[in-house]
Amino acid sequence: MNAGLVGVGKFVPSHIVTNEDLEKRMDTSDEWIRTMTGIEERRIAADDMDTSHMAYEAAQNAIKDAGVNPEEIGLILVATVTPDRPFPTVSTMLQEQLGTKNAAAMDISAACAGFMYGLVTAKQFVESGSYDYVLVVGVEKLSKITDWEDRNTAVLFGDGAGAAVVGKVSEGRGILSFELGADGTGGKHLYQDEYLVMNGREVFKFAVRQMGESALNVVEKAGLTTDDIDYLIPHQANIRIMEASRERLGLPVEKMSKTIHKYGNTSAASIPISLVDDLAEGKIKEGDVIVFVGFGAGLTWGALCIRWGK
Ligand code: UT7
Repeated sequence: MNAGLVGVGKFVPSHIVTNEDLEKRMDTSDEWIRTMTGIEERRIAADDMDTSHMAYEAAQNAIKDAGVNPEEIGLILVATVTPDRPFPTVSTMLQEQLGTKNAAAMDISAACAGFMYGLVTAKQFVESGSYDYVLVVGVEKLSKITDWEDRNTAVLFGDGAGAAVVGKVSEGRGILSFELGADGTGGKHLYQDEYLVMNGREVFKFAVRQMGESALNVVEKAGLTTDDIDYLIPHQANIRIMEASRERLGLPVEKMSKTIHKYGNTSAASIPISLVDDLAEGKIKEGDVIVFVGFGAGLTWGALCIRWGK
Protein backbone atom coordinates (compact mmCIF):
# COMPACT_ATOMS: atom_id res chain seq x y z
CA MET A 1 0.00 0.00 0.00
CA ASN A 2 1.31 3.43 -0.95
CA ALA A 3 0.77 6.81 0.61
CA GLY A 4 0.16 9.74 -1.71
CA LEU A 5 -1.08 13.31 -1.83
CA VAL A 6 -4.89 13.14 -1.89
CA GLY A 7 -5.53 16.89 -1.65
CA VAL A 8 -3.49 20.08 -1.92
CA GLY A 9 -3.94 23.77 -1.13
CA LYS A 10 -2.03 27.02 -0.93
CA PHE A 11 -2.29 30.54 0.40
CA VAL A 12 -0.23 33.61 -0.43
CA PRO A 13 -0.73 37.10 1.00
CA SER A 14 -2.28 39.59 -1.42
CA HIS A 15 0.39 42.30 -0.97
CA ILE A 16 2.91 42.23 -3.84
CA VAL A 17 6.39 43.73 -3.49
CA THR A 18 8.12 44.15 -6.86
CA ASN A 19 11.83 44.48 -7.60
CA GLU A 20 11.14 48.14 -8.43
CA ASP A 21 9.72 48.60 -4.92
CA LEU A 22 12.97 47.20 -3.48
CA GLU A 23 15.08 49.49 -5.70
CA LYS A 24 13.54 52.37 -3.75
CA ARG A 25 14.53 50.85 -0.39
CA MET A 26 18.07 49.59 -0.98
CA ASP A 27 21.03 49.62 -3.36
CA THR A 28 19.79 47.00 -5.83
CA SER A 29 18.25 46.81 -9.28
CA ASP A 30 15.47 44.93 -11.00
CA GLU A 31 18.03 43.75 -13.54
CA TRP A 32 20.39 42.28 -10.92
CA ILE A 33 17.58 40.48 -9.09
CA ARG A 34 16.04 39.07 -12.29
CA THR A 35 19.28 37.83 -13.82
CA MET A 36 20.90 36.57 -10.62
CA THR A 37 17.79 34.92 -9.10
CA GLY A 38 14.84 34.86 -11.54
CA ILE A 39 12.67 36.73 -9.03
CA GLU A 40 10.37 39.52 -10.25
CA GLU A 41 8.07 39.95 -7.28
CA ARG A 42 7.19 38.34 -3.95
CA ARG A 43 4.24 38.35 -1.53
CA ILE A 44 4.72 39.91 1.90
CA ALA A 45 2.28 39.28 4.75
CA ALA A 46 0.83 42.21 6.68
CA ASP A 47 1.94 42.72 10.30
CA ASP A 48 -1.29 41.21 11.62
CA MET A 49 -1.02 38.09 9.42
CA ASP A 50 1.25 35.61 11.16
CA THR A 51 2.47 32.18 10.03
CA SER A 52 -0.46 30.26 11.56
CA HIS A 53 -2.95 32.39 9.64
CA MET A 54 -1.36 31.50 6.26
CA ALA A 55 -0.99 27.86 7.34
CA TYR A 56 -4.67 27.71 8.28
CA GLU A 57 -5.83 29.03 4.90
CA ALA A 58 -3.63 26.60 2.93
CA ALA A 59 -4.66 23.68 5.18
CA GLN A 60 -8.36 24.46 4.77
CA ASN A 61 -7.92 24.44 0.99
CA ALA A 62 -6.06 21.11 1.08
CA ILE A 63 -8.67 19.46 3.33
CA LYS A 64 -11.46 20.68 1.03
CA ASP A 65 -9.56 19.44 -2.04
CA ALA A 66 -9.06 16.02 -0.40
CA GLY A 67 -12.74 15.83 0.53
CA VAL A 68 -11.94 14.46 3.98
CA ASN A 69 -13.63 15.21 7.25
CA PRO A 70 -11.20 17.10 9.56
CA GLU A 71 -11.92 14.50 12.26
CA GLU A 72 -10.33 11.80 10.06
CA ILE A 73 -6.93 13.52 10.25
CA GLY A 74 -4.67 11.72 12.73
CA LEU A 75 -1.63 13.97 12.64
CA ILE A 76 -0.74 17.53 11.65
CA LEU A 77 2.84 18.31 10.64
CA VAL A 78 3.79 21.93 10.06
CA ALA A 79 7.18 22.56 8.45
CA THR A 80 8.34 26.06 9.31
CA VAL A 81 11.32 28.01 10.66
CA THR A 82 9.17 31.08 11.27
CA PRO A 83 6.48 29.91 13.72
CA ASP A 84 4.30 32.54 15.42
CA ARG A 85 6.30 31.81 18.60
CA PRO A 86 8.51 28.92 19.80
CA PHE A 87 5.52 27.28 21.49
CA PRO A 88 2.71 26.41 21.37
CA THR A 89 3.48 25.17 17.88
CA VAL A 90 1.74 26.29 14.70
CA SER A 91 0.51 22.71 14.28
CA THR A 92 -1.33 22.78 17.62
CA MET A 93 -2.90 26.14 16.73
CA LEU A 94 -4.16 24.54 13.50
CA GLN A 95 -5.38 21.51 15.43
CA GLU A 96 -7.85 23.74 17.24
CA GLN A 97 -8.75 26.03 14.35
CA LEU A 98 -9.37 23.27 11.79
CA GLY A 99 -11.60 21.20 14.07
CA THR A 100 -9.20 18.27 13.72
CA LYS A 101 -10.11 16.98 17.15
CA ASN A 102 -8.48 13.56 16.70
CA ALA A 103 -5.14 14.87 15.46
CA ALA A 104 -1.76 14.84 17.16
CA ALA A 105 0.35 17.81 16.16
CA MET A 106 3.99 18.79 15.83
CA ASP A 107 6.15 21.28 13.96
CA ILE A 108 9.12 20.20 11.87
CA SER A 109 12.17 22.42 11.64
CA ALA A 110 14.14 21.51 8.53
CA ALA A 111 14.12 24.89 6.77
CA CYS A 112 13.50 24.83 3.02
CA ALA A 113 13.57 21.01 2.97
CA GLY A 114 10.85 20.95 5.65
CA PHE A 115 7.96 20.02 3.38
CA MET A 116 9.97 17.03 2.09
CA TYR A 117 10.65 15.94 5.68
CA GLY A 118 6.94 16.35 6.41
CA LEU A 119 5.77 14.29 3.46
CA VAL A 120 8.20 11.48 4.23
CA THR A 121 7.13 11.45 7.90
CA ALA A 122 3.47 11.38 6.85
CA LYS A 123 4.16 8.47 4.50
CA GLN A 124 5.50 6.36 7.39
CA PHE A 125 2.40 6.91 9.52
CA VAL A 126 -0.02 6.24 6.67
CA GLU A 127 1.73 3.15 5.31
CA SER A 128 2.11 1.65 8.78
CA GLY A 129 -1.66 1.96 9.19
CA SER A 130 -1.30 4.29 12.20
CA TYR A 131 -3.29 7.15 10.67
CA ASP A 132 -5.66 7.33 7.70
CA TYR A 133 -4.76 10.93 6.90
CA VAL A 134 -1.87 13.21 7.81
CA LEU A 135 -1.97 16.94 7.06
CA VAL A 136 1.40 18.39 6.00
CA VAL A 137 1.86 22.16 5.77
CA GLY A 138 4.92 24.09 4.56
CA VAL A 139 4.64 27.72 5.66
CA GLU A 140 6.93 30.70 6.19
CA LYS A 141 6.69 34.32 7.12
CA LEU A 142 10.31 35.02 6.22
CA SER A 143 9.67 38.76 6.07
CA LYS A 144 9.73 38.87 9.88
CA ILE A 145 13.30 37.52 10.08
CA THR A 146 14.59 39.43 7.04
CA ASP A 147 17.08 42.24 7.54
CA TRP A 148 15.60 44.83 5.20
CA GLU A 149 18.95 46.67 5.22
CA ASP A 150 20.81 43.65 3.79
CA ARG A 151 20.51 43.51 0.01
CA ASN A 152 22.25 40.11 -0.06
CA THR A 153 19.17 38.46 1.48
CA ALA A 154 16.25 40.92 1.45
CA VAL A 155 15.61 40.57 -2.27
CA LEU A 156 15.34 36.78 -2.15
CA PHE A 157 12.50 35.79 0.13
CA GLY A 158 8.71 35.85 0.27
CA ASP A 159 5.84 34.71 2.49
CA GLY A 160 3.29 31.97 1.83
CA ALA A 161 1.92 28.53 2.64
CA GLY A 162 1.25 25.24 0.86
CA ALA A 163 -0.38 22.10 2.23
CA ALA A 164 -1.17 18.51 1.35
CA VAL A 165 -3.31 15.78 2.86
CA VAL A 166 -1.44 12.48 2.71
CA GLY A 167 -3.51 9.30 2.61
CA LYS A 168 -3.71 5.85 1.02
CA VAL A 169 -3.71 5.72 -2.76
CA SER A 170 -4.11 2.83 -5.20
CA GLU A 171 -1.34 0.39 -6.11
CA GLY A 172 1.47 1.96 -8.16
CA ARG A 173 0.43 5.54 -7.27
CA GLY A 174 1.74 7.89 -4.61
CA ILE A 175 5.19 8.29 -3.09
CA LEU A 176 7.41 5.72 -4.82
CA SER A 177 10.72 6.63 -3.20
CA PHE A 178 12.43 9.31 -1.14
CA GLU A 179 15.75 10.57 0.13
CA LEU A 180 16.34 12.78 3.16
CA GLY A 181 19.69 14.09 4.31
CA ALA A 182 21.50 16.53 6.55
CA ASP A 183 25.01 17.91 6.88
CA GLY A 184 25.46 20.02 9.99
CA THR A 185 28.95 21.09 8.94
CA GLY A 186 27.22 23.52 6.57
CA GLY A 187 25.12 25.11 9.33
CA LYS A 188 27.37 28.15 9.39
CA HIS A 189 26.36 29.12 5.84
CA LEU A 190 22.70 29.86 6.59
CA TYR A 191 21.31 30.62 10.03
CA GLN A 192 19.21 32.99 12.09
CA ASP A 193 20.60 35.26 14.79
CA GLU A 194 18.16 38.11 15.07
CA TYR A 195 17.79 38.05 11.29
CA LEU A 196 18.51 35.51 8.60
CA VAL A 197 22.22 35.44 7.68
CA MET A 198 23.50 33.69 4.57
CA ASN A 199 26.69 32.96 2.69
CA GLY A 200 24.95 32.81 -0.69
CA ARG A 201 27.94 31.49 -2.64
CA GLU A 202 28.39 28.44 -0.37
CA VAL A 203 24.70 27.62 -0.28
CA PHE A 204 24.57 27.97 -4.05
CA LYS A 205 27.42 25.48 -4.61
CA PHE A 206 25.90 22.97 -2.20
CA ALA A 207 22.44 23.31 -3.75
CA VAL A 208 23.60 22.79 -7.33
CA ARG A 209 25.38 19.59 -6.34
CA GLN A 210 22.74 18.24 -3.96
CA MET A 211 19.58 18.95 -5.97
CA GLY A 212 20.77 17.05 -9.05
CA GLU A 213 22.17 14.17 -7.03
CA SER A 214 19.09 13.67 -4.81
CA ALA A 215 16.73 13.88 -7.77
CA LEU A 216 18.71 11.21 -9.61
CA ASN A 217 18.80 9.02 -6.48
CA VAL A 218 15.03 8.98 -5.96
CA VAL A 219 14.35 8.19 -9.61
CA GLU A 220 16.75 5.26 -9.41
CA LYS A 221 15.27 4.08 -6.09
CA ALA A 222 11.84 4.05 -7.74
CA GLY A 223 13.22 1.70 -10.39
CA LEU A 224 12.85 4.39 -13.07
CA THR A 225 15.17 6.39 -15.33
CA THR A 226 15.29 10.12 -16.06
CA ASP A 227 13.35 9.40 -19.29
CA ASP A 228 10.39 8.46 -17.10
CA ILE A 229 10.23 11.88 -15.37
CA ASP A 230 7.23 13.87 -16.52
CA TYR A 231 7.71 16.84 -14.23
CA LEU A 232 10.27 18.29 -11.80
CA ILE A 233 9.33 20.61 -8.94
CA PRO A 234 12.56 21.96 -7.45
CA HIS A 235 12.67 24.22 -4.40
CA GLN A 236 12.25 27.71 -5.83
CA ALA A 237 15.38 29.37 -4.41
CA ASN A 238 17.21 30.62 -7.48
CA ILE A 239 16.46 30.04 -11.16
CA ARG A 240 20.14 29.28 -11.81
CA ILE A 241 20.13 26.47 -9.20
CA MET A 242 16.83 25.14 -10.60
CA GLU A 243 18.16 25.18 -14.17
CA ALA A 244 21.29 23.28 -13.09
CA SER A 245 19.17 20.45 -11.67
CA ARG A 246 16.92 20.40 -14.72
CA GLU A 247 19.96 20.10 -16.97
CA ARG A 248 21.49 17.38 -14.80
CA LEU A 249 18.31 15.35 -15.32
CA GLY A 250 18.27 16.15 -19.06
CA LEU A 251 14.73 17.56 -18.92
CA PRO A 252 13.30 20.17 -21.32
CA VAL A 253 12.29 23.58 -19.89
CA GLU A 254 8.55 22.79 -19.98
CA LYS A 255 9.05 19.84 -17.62
CA MET A 256 10.26 22.03 -14.75
CA SER A 257 8.03 24.01 -12.43
CA LYS A 258 8.82 27.72 -12.21
CA THR A 259 6.97 30.00 -9.84
CA ILE A 260 9.98 31.82 -8.37
CA HIS A 261 9.31 34.92 -10.51
CA LYS A 262 5.93 35.37 -8.75
CA TYR A 263 6.72 34.43 -5.15
CA GLY A 264 10.51 34.52 -4.59
CA ASN A 265 11.91 31.94 -2.18
CA THR A 266 9.16 30.92 0.27
CA SER A 267 11.33 28.21 1.89
CA ALA A 268 9.23 25.25 3.13
CA ALA A 269 6.21 26.56 1.20
CA SER A 270 7.81 26.79 -2.24
CA ILE A 271 7.25 23.23 -3.46
CA PRO A 272 3.60 22.86 -2.37
CA ILE A 273 2.74 26.36 -3.66
CA SER A 274 4.27 25.45 -7.03
CA LEU A 275 2.42 22.12 -7.05
CA VAL A 276 -0.94 23.85 -6.58
CA ASP A 277 -0.27 26.36 -9.36
CA ASP A 278 1.00 23.64 -11.73
CA LEU A 279 -2.08 21.48 -11.12
CA ALA A 280 -4.35 24.48 -11.73
CA GLU A 281 -2.55 25.16 -15.02
CA GLY A 282 -2.91 21.51 -16.14
CA LYS A 283 0.83 20.87 -16.14
CA ILE A 284 0.47 17.63 -14.14
CA LYS A 285 -1.75 14.74 -15.23
CA GLU A 286 -2.98 11.58 -13.55
CA GLY A 287 -0.24 8.92 -13.75
CA ASP A 288 2.63 11.38 -14.27
CA VAL A 289 5.97 10.72 -12.58
CA ILE A 290 6.92 13.82 -10.57
CA VAL A 291 10.10 14.58 -8.68
CA PHE A 292 10.15 17.04 -5.76
CA VAL A 293 13.59 18.16 -4.61
CA GLY A 294 14.49 20.68 -1.93
CA PHE A 295 17.45 21.89 0.15
CA GLY A 296 17.94 24.41 2.89
CA ALA A 297 19.49 25.59 6.12
CA GLY A 298 21.01 22.91 8.33
CA LEU A 299 22.09 22.04 5.78
CA THR A 300 19.19 19.74 4.94
CA TRP A 301 17.83 18.20 1.78
CA GLY A 302 15.07 15.93 0.60
CA ALA A 303 13.60 14.49 -2.58
CA LEU A 304 10.59 12.38 -3.47
CA CYS A 305 9.54 10.52 -6.59
CA ILE A 306 5.75 10.38 -6.89
CA ARG A 307 3.35 8.83 -9.39
CA TRP A 308 0.55 11.36 -9.38
CA GLY A 309 -3.03 10.28 -8.67
CA LYS A 310 -5.15 8.56 -6.11
O1 UT7 B 1 16.45 28.34 0.21
C1 UT7 B 1 17.83 28.27 0.38
C2 UT7 B 1 18.33 29.64 0.66
N1 UT7 B 1 19.33 30.23 -0.11
C3 UT7 B 1 19.63 30.11 -1.42
O2 UT7 B 1 19.17 29.32 -2.14
C4 UT7 B 1 20.63 31.07 -1.94
C5 UT7 B 1 21.68 30.45 -2.80
N2 UT7 B 1 22.56 31.48 -3.32
C6 UT7 B 1 22.16 32.32 -4.30
O3 UT7 B 1 21.07 32.27 -4.80
C7 UT7 B 1 23.21 33.30 -4.81
O4 UT7 B 1 24.42 33.10 -4.13
C8 UT7 B 1 22.78 34.79 -4.67
C9 UT7 B 1 21.67 35.11 -5.65
C10 UT7 B 1 22.32 35.08 -3.26
C11 UT7 B 1 23.97 35.70 -5.01
O5 UT7 B 1 24.52 35.34 -6.26
P1 UT7 B 1 26.10 35.11 -6.42
O6 UT7 B 1 26.34 34.70 -7.82
O7 UT7 B 1 26.54 34.14 -5.36
O8 UT7 B 1 26.67 36.57 -6.20
P2 UT7 B 1 27.54 37.18 -4.98
O9 UT7 B 1 26.88 37.00 -3.66
O10 UT7 B 1 28.93 36.72 -5.11
O11 UT7 B 1 27.46 38.71 -5.36
C12 UT7 B 1 27.91 39.24 -6.61
C13 UT7 B 1 27.86 40.74 -6.54
C14 UT7 B 1 28.54 41.31 -5.30
O12 UT7 B 1 29.18 42.51 -5.67
P3 UT7 B 1 30.78 42.55 -5.92
O13 UT7 B 1 31.38 42.09 -4.62
O14 UT7 B 1 31.03 41.60 -7.05
O15 UT7 B 1 31.02 43.99 -6.24
C15 UT7 B 1 27.40 41.62 -4.38
O16 UT7 B 1 27.71 42.65 -3.47
O17 UT7 B 1 26.50 41.18 -6.46
C16 UT7 B 1 26.33 42.07 -5.35
N3 UT7 B 1 24.98 41.95 -4.83
C17 UT7 B 1 23.94 42.68 -5.27
N4 UT7 B 1 23.88 43.65 -6.19
C18 UT7 B 1 22.66 44.19 -6.40
C19 UT7 B 1 24.51 41.09 -3.88
N5 UT7 B 1 23.22 41.28 -3.69
C20 UT7 B 1 22.83 42.27 -4.53
C21 UT7 B 1 21.60 42.89 -4.80
N6 UT7 B 1 21.56 43.84 -5.76
N7 UT7 B 1 20.46 42.56 -4.16
